Amino acid sequence: MQVVREEYVSVSAWTFSDIPDQTGRTVVVTGANTGIGREAATMFARKGAHVVLACRDPRKGDDAVKRIRALRPSGSVRADLLDLADLDSVGAFAEAFRAGHDRLDVLINNAGVMWSPLSRTKQGFELQFGTNHLGHFALTGQLLPLLLRTPGARVTTMSSLAQKFGRIDFDDLDWRRRSYSSGAAYNQSKLANMMFVLELQRRLEASGSAMVVTAAHPGWTSSELTRHSHSVIRRVSPVVGLKPEIGTLGLMRAATDPTASSGSYWGPGRFFETRGYPSSARISRRAEDITVAARLWEESSVLTGVAYAFVGRTERATDV
Ligand SMILES: NC(=O)c1ccc[n+]([C@@H]2O[C@H](COP(=O)([O-])OP(=O)(O)OC[C@H]3O[C@@H](n4cnc5c(N)ncnc54)[C@H](OP(=O)(O)O)[C@@H]3O)[C@@H](O)[C@H]2O)c1
Repeated sequence: MQVVREEYVSVSAWTFSDIPDQTGRTVVVTGANTGIGREAATMFARKGAHVVLACRDPRKGDDAVKRIRALRPSGSVRADLLDLADLDSVGAFAEAFRAGHDRLDVLINNAGVMWSPLSRTKQGFELQFGTNHLGHFALTGQLLPLLLRTPGARVTTMSSLAQKFGRIDFDDLDWRRRSYSSGAAYNQSKLANMMFVLELQRRLEASGSAMVVTAAHPGWTSSELTRHSHSVIRRVSPVVGLKPEIGTLGLMRAATDPTASSGSYWGPGRFFETRGYPSSARISRRAEDITVAARLWEESSVLTGVAYAFVGRTERATDV
Protein backbone atom coordinates (compact mmCIF):
# COMPACT_ATOMS: atom_id res chain seq x y z
CA MET A 1 0.00 0.00 0.00
CA GLN A 2 1.35 3.40 -0.97
CA VAL A 3 1.18 5.88 1.90
CA VAL A 4 0.83 9.41 0.56
CA ARG A 5 2.27 12.10 2.79
CA GLU A 6 2.29 15.80 2.27
CA GLU A 7 5.59 17.39 3.22
CA TYR A 8 5.39 20.52 5.32
CA VAL A 9 6.10 23.47 3.01
CA SER A 10 7.49 26.56 4.72
CA VAL A 11 7.38 29.86 2.88
CA SER A 12 11.15 29.72 2.40
CA ALA A 13 11.14 26.19 0.91
CA TRP A 14 12.74 25.91 -2.54
CA THR A 15 10.09 24.21 -4.67
CA PHE A 16 9.27 23.48 -8.31
CA SER A 17 8.06 27.06 -8.75
CA ASP A 18 11.59 28.31 -7.95
CA ILE A 19 13.09 26.55 -10.98
CA PRO A 20 13.84 29.29 -13.50
CA ASP A 21 12.35 29.16 -16.98
CA GLN A 22 14.43 26.77 -19.13
CA THR A 23 13.07 27.76 -22.55
CA GLY A 24 15.75 27.54 -25.24
CA ARG A 25 18.05 25.43 -23.08
CA THR A 26 19.22 21.90 -23.90
CA VAL A 27 19.56 19.38 -21.08
CA VAL A 28 20.90 15.81 -20.95
CA VAL A 29 19.75 13.60 -18.07
CA THR A 30 21.39 10.19 -17.66
CA GLY A 31 19.23 7.36 -16.31
CA ALA A 32 16.07 9.32 -17.11
CA ASN A 33 13.70 6.42 -17.76
CA THR A 34 12.72 6.03 -14.11
CA GLY A 35 13.12 7.38 -10.58
CA ILE A 36 14.83 10.68 -9.94
CA GLY A 37 16.16 10.98 -13.50
CA ARG A 38 12.68 10.77 -15.01
CA GLU A 39 11.34 13.25 -12.48
CA ALA A 40 14.18 15.68 -13.28
CA ALA A 41 13.58 15.28 -17.03
CA THR A 42 9.88 15.97 -16.44
CA MET A 43 10.60 19.10 -14.43
CA PHE A 44 13.02 20.43 -17.06
CA ALA A 45 10.48 19.76 -19.85
CA ARG A 46 7.70 21.44 -17.87
CA LYS A 47 9.96 24.48 -17.55
CA GLY A 48 10.46 24.62 -21.33
CA ALA A 49 13.81 22.87 -21.94
CA HIS A 50 14.69 20.50 -24.76
CA VAL A 51 15.54 17.36 -22.77
CA VAL A 52 17.48 14.34 -23.98
CA LEU A 53 16.83 11.26 -21.88
CA ALA A 54 20.06 9.26 -21.99
CA CYS A 55 18.96 5.67 -21.29
CA ARG A 56 20.45 2.22 -21.79
CA ASP A 57 17.16 0.50 -22.70
CA PRO A 58 15.48 2.07 -25.78
CA ARG A 59 12.07 0.68 -24.85
CA LYS A 60 12.20 2.13 -21.35
CA GLY A 61 13.50 5.42 -22.77
CA ASP A 62 10.62 5.65 -25.24
CA ASP A 63 8.08 4.79 -22.53
CA ALA A 64 9.44 7.63 -20.39
CA VAL A 65 9.25 10.04 -23.33
CA LYS A 66 5.59 9.09 -23.89
CA ARG A 67 4.83 9.54 -20.23
CA ILE A 68 6.42 12.98 -20.10
CA ARG A 69 4.82 14.11 -23.38
CA ALA A 70 1.41 13.07 -22.01
CA LEU A 71 1.81 15.85 -19.45
CA ARG A 72 1.95 18.31 -22.40
CA PRO A 73 5.07 20.10 -21.19
CA SER A 74 6.10 23.35 -22.87
CA GLY A 75 9.52 21.87 -23.67
CA SER A 76 10.44 18.88 -25.84
CA VAL A 77 11.78 15.43 -24.96
CA ARG A 78 13.50 12.60 -26.78
CA ALA A 79 15.42 9.49 -25.72
CA ASP A 80 18.87 8.43 -26.93
CA LEU A 81 20.88 5.32 -26.19
CA LEU A 82 23.55 5.57 -23.49
CA ASP A 83 24.96 2.62 -21.57
CA LEU A 84 27.35 3.97 -18.97
CA ALA A 85 28.65 0.46 -18.37
CA ASP A 86 30.14 0.43 -21.87
CA LEU A 87 32.68 3.13 -22.76
CA ASP A 88 32.05 2.50 -26.47
CA SER A 89 28.40 3.41 -25.92
CA VAL A 90 29.42 6.51 -23.96
CA GLY A 91 31.72 7.58 -26.80
CA ALA A 92 29.03 6.94 -29.43
CA PHE A 93 26.43 8.92 -27.46
CA ALA A 94 28.80 11.87 -26.99
CA GLU A 95 29.84 11.88 -30.64
CA ALA A 96 26.25 11.78 -31.90
CA PHE A 97 25.20 14.44 -29.42
CA ARG A 98 28.02 16.79 -30.45
CA ALA A 99 27.13 16.25 -34.11
CA GLY A 100 23.44 16.95 -33.56
CA HIS A 101 23.53 19.87 -31.12
CA ASP A 102 25.24 23.23 -31.04
CA ARG A 103 24.74 23.73 -27.31
CA LEU A 104 24.49 21.83 -24.03
CA ASP A 105 23.27 23.96 -21.15
CA VAL A 106 22.92 21.33 -18.42
CA LEU A 107 24.43 17.86 -18.09
CA ILE A 108 22.82 15.84 -15.31
CA ASN A 109 24.98 12.88 -14.29
CA ASN A 110 22.22 11.02 -12.48
CA ALA A 111 22.17 7.35 -13.52
CA GLY A 112 23.27 4.86 -10.93
CA VAL A 113 23.24 1.32 -9.71
CA MET A 114 23.32 0.37 -6.02
CA TRP A 115 24.39 -2.75 -4.13
CA SER A 116 24.55 -4.93 -7.22
CA PRO A 117 26.12 -8.40 -6.94
CA LEU A 118 29.71 -8.49 -8.22
CA SER A 119 29.55 -7.89 -11.94
CA ARG A 120 31.58 -5.96 -14.48
CA THR A 121 31.16 -3.37 -17.19
CA LYS A 122 31.95 -4.21 -20.80
CA GLN A 123 35.52 -3.03 -20.27
CA GLY A 124 35.84 -5.11 -17.07
CA PHE A 125 35.43 -2.49 -14.32
CA GLU A 126 33.44 -3.32 -11.20
CA LEU A 127 29.86 -2.37 -12.15
CA GLN A 128 29.09 0.33 -9.56
CA PHE A 129 32.42 2.15 -9.89
CA GLY A 130 32.34 1.68 -13.65
CA THR A 131 28.78 2.95 -14.13
CA ASN A 132 28.35 5.56 -11.42
CA HIS A 133 31.81 7.13 -11.66
CA LEU A 134 33.85 6.08 -14.70
CA GLY A 135 30.93 6.23 -17.15
CA HIS A 136 30.06 9.77 -16.05
CA PHE A 137 33.73 10.81 -16.00
CA ALA A 138 34.03 9.68 -19.63
CA LEU A 139 30.72 11.25 -20.65
CA THR A 140 31.46 14.64 -19.11
CA GLY A 141 34.95 14.75 -20.62
CA GLN A 142 33.63 14.04 -24.09
CA LEU A 143 30.84 16.62 -23.81
CA LEU A 144 33.09 19.26 -22.22
CA PRO A 145 33.98 21.09 -25.47
CA LEU A 146 30.26 21.65 -26.13
CA LEU A 147 29.58 22.67 -22.54
CA LEU A 148 32.46 25.17 -22.62
CA ARG A 149 31.03 26.72 -25.79
CA THR A 150 27.58 27.18 -24.19
CA PRO A 151 27.28 30.35 -22.09
CA GLY A 152 26.14 29.57 -18.53
CA ALA A 153 26.46 25.79 -18.93
CA ARG A 154 26.41 23.62 -15.84
CA VAL A 155 27.27 20.02 -14.91
CA THR A 156 25.41 18.50 -11.98
CA THR A 157 26.30 15.09 -10.59
CA MET A 158 24.30 12.92 -8.23
CA SER A 159 26.21 11.75 -5.18
CA SER A 160 24.73 10.32 -1.97
CA LEU A 161 24.87 10.41 1.80
CA ALA A 162 26.86 7.19 1.21
CA GLN A 163 29.88 9.32 0.21
CA LYS A 164 30.56 9.75 3.95
CA PHE A 165 31.30 6.04 4.28
CA GLY A 166 33.27 5.67 1.06
CA ARG A 167 36.97 4.95 0.70
CA ILE A 168 38.92 5.06 -2.54
CA ASP A 169 41.18 2.00 -2.59
CA PHE A 170 43.72 2.68 -5.34
CA ASP A 171 45.26 -0.77 -4.85
CA ASP A 172 42.01 -2.44 -5.80
CA LEU A 173 39.52 0.01 -7.34
CA ASP A 174 37.93 -2.92 -9.14
CA TRP A 175 37.52 -5.39 -6.32
CA ARG A 176 39.78 -8.03 -7.82
CA ARG A 177 41.80 -8.69 -4.65
CA ARG A 178 39.42 -7.73 -1.84
CA SER A 179 36.43 -9.85 -0.96
CA TYR A 180 33.54 -8.02 -2.62
CA SER A 181 31.17 -5.89 -0.58
CA SER A 182 28.30 -4.43 -2.61
CA GLY A 183 27.74 -1.72 0.02
CA ALA A 184 31.38 -0.64 0.18
CA ALA A 185 31.57 -0.64 -3.62
CA TYR A 186 28.54 1.67 -3.79
CA ASN A 187 30.04 3.96 -1.12
CA GLN A 188 33.31 4.13 -3.06
CA SER A 189 31.48 5.05 -6.27
CA LYS A 190 29.45 7.80 -4.59
CA LEU A 191 32.53 9.26 -2.88
CA ALA A 192 34.15 9.21 -6.33
CA ASN A 193 31.16 11.17 -7.72
CA MET A 194 31.67 13.90 -5.12
CA MET A 195 35.46 14.01 -5.59
CA PHE A 196 34.93 14.26 -9.35
CA VAL A 197 32.73 17.35 -8.88
CA LEU A 198 35.22 19.11 -6.62
CA GLU A 199 38.24 18.21 -8.77
CA LEU A 200 36.47 19.28 -11.97
CA GLN A 201 35.63 22.58 -10.30
CA ARG A 202 39.31 23.10 -9.33
CA ARG A 203 40.53 22.24 -12.83
CA LEU A 204 37.97 24.50 -14.51
CA GLU A 205 38.89 27.34 -12.20
CA ALA A 206 42.62 26.81 -12.87
CA SER A 207 41.91 26.99 -16.60
CA GLY A 208 40.11 30.30 -16.17
CA SER A 209 36.64 28.89 -16.91
CA ALA A 210 33.63 30.13 -14.95
CA MET A 211 31.57 27.05 -15.78
CA VAL A 212 29.60 25.86 -12.75
CA VAL A 213 29.74 22.27 -11.50
CA THR A 214 27.53 21.17 -8.64
CA ALA A 215 26.47 18.02 -6.80
CA ALA A 216 23.30 16.80 -5.16
CA HIS A 217 21.88 13.93 -3.15
CA PRO A 218 18.22 12.94 -2.67
CA GLY A 219 18.33 11.69 0.93
CA TRP A 220 16.23 8.56 0.77
CA THR A 221 13.85 8.85 -2.16
CA SER A 222 11.49 6.14 -3.29
CA SER A 223 12.69 4.77 -6.65
CA GLU A 224 13.86 1.58 -8.34
CA LEU A 225 17.34 1.97 -6.82
CA THR A 226 16.49 -0.66 -4.22
CA ARG A 227 16.10 -3.35 -6.90
CA HIS A 228 19.19 -5.22 -5.59
CA SER A 229 18.21 -4.74 -1.92
CA HIS A 230 16.62 -7.04 0.61
CA SER A 231 12.86 -7.42 0.09
CA VAL A 232 12.18 -5.61 3.40
CA ILE A 233 13.98 -2.49 2.12
CA ARG A 234 12.10 -2.72 -1.17
CA ARG A 235 8.78 -2.83 0.68
CA VAL A 236 9.64 -0.08 3.17
CA SER A 237 11.15 2.37 0.67
CA PRO A 238 7.89 3.61 -0.90
CA VAL A 239 6.53 4.20 2.60
CA VAL A 240 9.42 6.01 4.28
CA GLY A 241 11.25 7.42 1.26
CA LEU A 242 10.63 10.89 -0.10
CA LYS A 243 8.30 11.11 -3.06
CA PRO A 244 10.37 11.68 -6.24
CA GLU A 245 8.66 15.09 -6.75
CA ILE A 246 10.36 16.25 -3.54
CA GLY A 247 13.50 14.08 -3.51
CA THR A 248 14.46 15.41 -6.96
CA LEU A 249 14.36 19.06 -5.94
CA GLY A 250 17.92 19.05 -4.55
CA LEU A 251 19.19 17.95 -7.95
CA MET A 252 17.07 20.61 -9.65
CA ARG A 253 18.33 23.29 -7.29
CA ALA A 254 21.95 22.25 -7.91
CA ALA A 255 21.29 22.33 -11.66
CA THR A 256 19.27 25.53 -12.00
CA ASP A 257 19.46 27.84 -9.00
CA PRO A 258 21.44 30.89 -10.17
CA THR A 259 22.79 31.36 -6.64
CA ALA A 260 24.29 27.82 -6.49
CA SER A 261 28.04 28.34 -6.67
CA SER A 262 30.51 26.00 -8.32
CA GLY A 263 31.45 23.14 -6.03
CA SER A 264 28.22 23.43 -4.01
CA TYR A 265 26.24 20.40 -2.88
CA TRP A 266 22.48 20.25 -2.32
CA GLY A 267 20.09 17.83 -0.64
CA PRO A 268 17.07 17.60 1.68
CA GLY A 269 17.45 20.08 4.51
CA ARG A 270 15.92 18.33 7.51
CA PHE A 271 16.44 15.30 9.77
CA PHE A 272 20.07 14.52 8.95
CA GLU A 273 19.49 15.50 5.30
CA THR A 274 16.93 12.78 4.72
CA ARG A 275 13.73 14.83 4.62
CA GLY A 276 12.36 18.08 3.38
CA TYR A 277 13.08 20.64 0.72
CA PRO A 278 16.58 21.30 -0.60
CA SER A 279 19.26 23.30 1.06
CA SER A 280 23.04 23.30 1.20
CA ALA A 281 24.30 19.78 2.08
CA ARG A 282 27.44 18.75 3.96
CA ILE A 283 30.37 17.54 1.90
CA SER A 284 32.22 14.72 3.65
CA ARG A 285 35.79 15.37 4.82
CA ARG A 286 37.00 12.46 2.72
CA ALA A 287 35.63 14.09 -0.42
CA GLU A 288 37.68 17.20 0.33
CA ASP A 289 41.00 15.33 0.20
CA ILE A 290 42.64 17.07 -2.76
CA THR A 291 45.50 14.57 -3.04
CA VAL A 292 43.17 11.59 -3.38
CA ALA A 293 40.88 13.55 -5.72
CA ALA A 294 43.76 14.46 -8.05
CA ARG A 295 44.96 10.86 -8.14
CA LEU A 296 41.43 9.57 -8.74
CA TRP A 297 41.14 12.00 -11.66
CA GLU A 298 44.39 10.78 -13.23
CA GLU A 299 43.47 7.13 -12.75
CA SER A 300 39.99 7.72 -14.18
CA SER A 301 41.52 9.39 -17.22
CA VAL A 302 43.83 6.43 -17.80
CA LEU A 303 41.12 3.81 -17.19
CA THR A 304 38.63 5.47 -19.54
CA GLY A 305 41.15 6.83 -22.04
CA VAL A 306 39.36 10.20 -21.86
CA ALA A 307 41.53 13.31 -21.66
CA TYR A 308 39.79 16.55 -20.68
CA ALA A 309 40.24 19.54 -23.00
CA PHE A 310 40.09 22.65 -20.85
CA VAL A 311 40.40 26.04 -22.51
CA GLY A 312 43.89 26.23 -24.00
CA ARG A 313 45.01 22.99 -22.31
CA THR A 314 44.31 19.35 -23.10
CA GLU A 315 45.19 16.82 -20.41
CA ARG A 316 46.87 13.63 -21.45
CA ALA A 317 45.59 10.22 -20.39
CA THR A 318 49.05 9.00 -19.43
CA ASP A 319 49.88 5.51 -18.27
CA VAL A 320 49.91 5.03 -14.52
N1 LIG B 1 16.86 6.98 -4.35
C1 LIG B 1 17.67 7.31 -3.34
O1 LIG B 1 17.29 7.32 -2.16
C2 LIG B 1 19.08 7.69 -3.63
C3 LIG B 1 19.92 8.01 -2.56
C4 LIG B 1 21.20 8.43 -2.82
C5 LIG B 1 21.64 8.55 -4.12
N2 LIG B 1 20.82 8.22 -5.15
C6 LIG B 1 21.34 8.34 -6.51
O2 LIG B 1 20.36 8.92 -7.35
C7 LIG B 1 20.59 8.48 -8.70
C8 LIG B 1 19.28 8.05 -9.33
O3 LIG B 1 18.82 6.91 -8.66
P1 LIG B 1 17.28 6.55 -8.49
O4 LIG B 1 17.03 6.55 -7.04
O5 LIG B 1 16.43 7.35 -9.36
O6 LIG B 1 17.32 5.01 -8.95
P2 LIG B 1 16.57 4.24 -10.13
O7 LIG B 1 15.11 4.49 -10.05
O8 LIG B 1 17.06 2.83 -10.04
O9 LIG B 1 17.14 4.92 -11.44
C9 LIG B 1 18.47 4.67 -11.86
C10 LIG B 1 18.58 5.00 -13.32
O10 LIG B 1 19.94 4.76 -13.73
C11 LIG B 1 19.90 3.98 -14.92
N3 LIG B 1 21.10 3.20 -15.14
C12 LIG B 1 21.60 2.20 -14.39
N4 LIG B 1 22.69 1.68 -14.99
C13 LIG B 1 22.86 2.36 -16.16
C14 LIG B 1 23.78 2.27 -17.22
N5 LIG B 1 24.74 1.34 -17.25
N6 LIG B 1 23.66 3.13 -18.26
C15 LIG B 1 22.68 4.06 -18.27
N7 LIG B 1 21.76 4.18 -17.30
C16 LIG B 1 21.86 3.33 -16.25
C17 LIG B 1 18.67 3.09 -14.74
O11 LIG B 1 18.28 2.53 -15.98
P3 LIG B 1 17.52 1.08 -16.03
O12 LIG B 1 16.13 1.34 -15.59
O13 LIG B 1 17.64 0.67 -17.46
O14 LIG B 1 18.25 0.18 -15.09
C18 LIG B 1 17.69 4.12 -14.21
O15 LIG B 1 17.19 4.91 -15.25
C19 LIG B 1 21.66 7.39 -8.61
O16 LIG B 1 22.91 7.94 -8.96
C20 LIG B 1 21.67 7.01 -7.15
O17 LIG B 1 22.92 6.51 -6.73
C21 LIG B 1 19.54 7.80 -4.94
